Amino acid sequence: MSNRELDILVFGAMGNLMEKKLGPALMKLLDRGDLPAKTRLVGINPERTQGEFETRMKEIARAAAEGSVHASAREMEWVFMERASKSLAKKGKANRIIYLAVPPISYSSIIKELREKNLIHESGTKEPWTRLVLEKPFGSDKKTAKELQARLVSCGLKEEHIFRIDHYLGKETVQNILAFRFANTILVRDWRGSNFDHIQITVSEADGVPRHRIPYYDGTGAMRDMIQNHLLQLFCLVAMGPPVSNDASDIQARKLEALRRAWLHIQKRVGEKKPPNYVRGQYKRGVVNGQYETGYEGSSETETFVALELGVGGGGGLSGVPFYLRTGKRMHHRFSEIMIAFKEARDDTLFGEQQLPKNVLTLRIQPDEGFSVDVGCKVPGQGMRIEPVRMDFRYSGQFYGRPVLKEYERLLVDIVNGDQTLFPSWGEILYSWRIVDYFRSRWKDEKPTSYYSGTWGPREADELLGDERNWHNPTLS
Ligand code: BG6
Repeated sequence: MSNRELDILVFGAMGNLMEKKLGPALMKLLDRGDLPAKTRLVGINPERTQGEFETRMKEIARAAAEGSVHASAREMEWVFMERASKSLAKKGKANRIIYLAVPPISYSSIIKELREKNLIHESGTKEPWTRLVLEKPFGSDKKTAKELQARLVSCGLKEEHIFRIDHYLGKETVQNILAFRFANTILVRDWRGSNFDHIQITVSEADGVPRHRIPYYDGTGAMRDMIQNHLLQLFCLVAMGPPVSNDASDIQARKLEALRRAWLHIQKRVGEKKPPNYVRGQYKRGVVNGQYETGYEGSSETETFVALELGVGGGGGLSGVPFYLRTGKRMHHRFSEIMIAFKEARDDTLFGEQQLPKNVLTLRIQPDEGFSVDVGCKVPGQGMRIEPVRMDFRYSGQFYGRPVLKEYERLLVDIVNGDQTLFPSWGEILYSWRIVDYFRSRWKDEKPTSYYSGTWGPREADELLGDERNWHNPTLS
């Protein structure tokens, strides 16, 4: 890591992201010496004052250090501005990270302002560099994403300067998907469409949408808040072919190929007049974790739940395997996982007519991080009767006491180091929007189906899987 001075300009410095994720991550990194010694935080927020900013930062530092003020907070220089200032450009020697922690609707005007005030060094990867960080969603559909990208390019920003955050890629368990797939011979060989019955990707949340988030969420919905980014990125990591190297560009190229093939699959299904199905829902009142909750407080048009079919087109790889993606708020409980159901083994010679259990591989992203494999095992005793048994791995058991980097800590270090591996490329964003726009255009003015809070979403979501398959809804342990 370069030791040159670093300025981190945060637009939206008094917002939720700064308080919950970004601020604590910065404090932890500074404390561990994982950022350059001379790092300056420049908070930008037109509606607040210097005093409010300082109080907020001290609170964040205190919370990150669980009580006492963080050592790093005392050393760090905090500067507050209502708007980005030209004087910053004159200083000019420090590397600069510009972090847009504001609603995406403000991106374009901020970028214009940065350009006008000469706050973007056009130095490529040479120091002093400028790196721009944007939170998801990047645009609100393909058209607006293209406009935003064009604006970035017109400011002289190239791919190596732009970091599009998808915090799921910063999760340890998400990174392990590639390790799991490519570091294990038994999986490398068997990761073939002909072996899999289907694949489920679920991100279920017990929380609803808090009132202060409704203005953002109403214009976004679960499709754009979760599927366009987190779930499609998980899809990529499962569906992609082996990258030719561990370079960011090679990994991104494979993910892009996975999304292209998903798009091809949709087109093929549309051509065959069997378009992929979806279910769109909105939570109403109900009981979650023993507590009574009210219904969604925003517009009746906004979906808080989506389940949809996807696949991989173009032959080879995982083509032919149905993928089911599902995400929702106020569901029964919080869990994220990828479940891969293998086809049933058939061997009449050894096992006669009995139905053999299907192998199931479950990658648990959170909160009970780990994975399990269900396999068939002979029941002790006479005869050859097979029953499913589970092989289970838990991070907490194996790596107990090992520090796990939080998503934002890891991603911030990667931004400082200029490492794009855990950031979606422009091509990936574009194809994700193609897929999302397709489904959104299908449901146009349709209202979402309601479901009770504390359940697994609308009943129609079960029908999406057909008669032979069921969603995997783990019980709370
Ligand atoms: C965010 C979404 O990107 O991810 C939120 O905007 C969602 O709506 C959150 O709650 C879920 O993240 P995690 O890491 O808690 O699963």
